Amino acid sequence: MATGNPFRPSFGVSPRVLAGREDLLQDFDVALDEGPGSPLRSLLVSGARGMGKTVVLNELEDIARTRGWLVLRLPEGDRMLEELESSTVPALLAEHDVAAVRRRLTGGGLGPVGSVSTSVEDRYPVRHSLTRLLARLSDVLAVHETGMLFTLDEVQAATPDLVGEFAAIYQHLVRDDREVAFAAAGLPTGIDALLRQAGTTFLRRAERVHLRALADDEVAAAARATVEDTGRTVGDAALERFVDIVHGYPYLLQLVGYHAWRVDPARTEVTLDDVGSTLPVVVERMGRLVHAPALAGVPERQRGYLRAMAVDDGPAATREVARRMGVTMSEQNVYRARLIDRELVVAAGHGYVDFALPYLREHLRARTR
Ligand SMILES: Nc1ncnc2c1ncn2[C@@H]1O[C@H](COP(=O)(O)OP(=O)(O)OP(=O)(O)O)[C@@H](O)[C@H]1O
Ligand SMILES: [Mg+2]
Repeated sequence: MATGNPFRPSFGVSPRVLAGREDLLQDFDVALDEGPGSPLRSLLVSGARGMGKTVVLNELEDIARTRGWLVLRLPEGDRMLEELESSTVPALLAEHDVAAVRRRLTGGGLGPVGSVSTSVEDRYPVRHSLTRLLARLSDVLAVHETGMLFTLDEVQAATPDLVGEFAAIYQHLVRDDREVAFAAAGLPTGIDALLRQAGTTFLRRAERVHLRALADDEVAAAARATVEDTGRTVGDAALERFVDIVHGYPYLLQLVGYHAWRVDPARTEVTLDDVGSTLPVVVERMGRLVHAPALAGVPERQRGYLRAMAVDDGPAATREVARRMGVTMSEQNVYRARLIDRELVVAAGHGYVDFALPYLREHLRARTR
């Protein structure tokens, strides 16, 4: 039985109990079985902030590792390929290449790590192109009938040219029928920008996965399992309230759970009151960590649109929003489309719009008061 708070309300941290996402993970598992050319081996995962993109990437990596595949994370920033070429791949070759291992062993036993990298460096000097290094690594892995998974998180922050270069290398590996897979994750705008980038034709054929909110029963099941994992319990009414507050948003599952759990960790049951008491902190944290960054850089007119929407307690009629803003319907349409692109607004049936992020309405109201 675990002790301590089992919920993890931080970005990039995998949850103790994963809610939903089974289909995607299973499809990927099957794709690794299917061999090169399986379309689900190239995944582009998009979703709003806190929707669980990094967690999905982590899970995909785990699936690959379970099958003995190597996982290569493409580092962020300008040194993305350089790092692969000069350290990551050579180190992996050192570890897995039989010839390199033999050489190391005959060269005086298992020395310290430093001597390993030296012996590898003369076998794989940096001047070898990354493509050749990866092809070699792939040959080595083929002996064990495994492959390599490349992952790239925060696509929107990557240097487009480097992603393009990497895409060319990856395409080369695919064309040679090698056992490779690629999964990238980012905000939808980042993924779209990546696809517009030259040299990424293969990415256009990659499977696009848009992460949506979790279903209520997925939230309830994960919340219950996480609580029970610690030996505590949670009743049905408390879970119902939990699901209401979470709105299917993965980050909130962790946040609400975390705060409800800590009201009185010594008490066996997590109660309805414990869950209900989290609401103020939920709204505040969401505002600071999700809404404020999501609103940064949104032009004033689009913010005005959001404020006009926030007047309503539920979905807002576009006609009403236009009237409140004093703009024509076609102008309204432009703002609406931009805000949908930004993942701030969703269409909610004909002629209606709603907020894409939970508690965004409350956040906007609190700031216009
Ligand atoms: N399927 C899930 N089940 C339970 N908790 C989840 C799930 N997915 C994500 N979480 C939790 O939600 C939070 C945010 O997840 P994650 O960091 O993966 O989001 P993200 O989409 O990568 O966000 P960002 O856009 O900031 O990179 C974390 O606390 C994580 O534990
Ligand atoms: Mg992330």
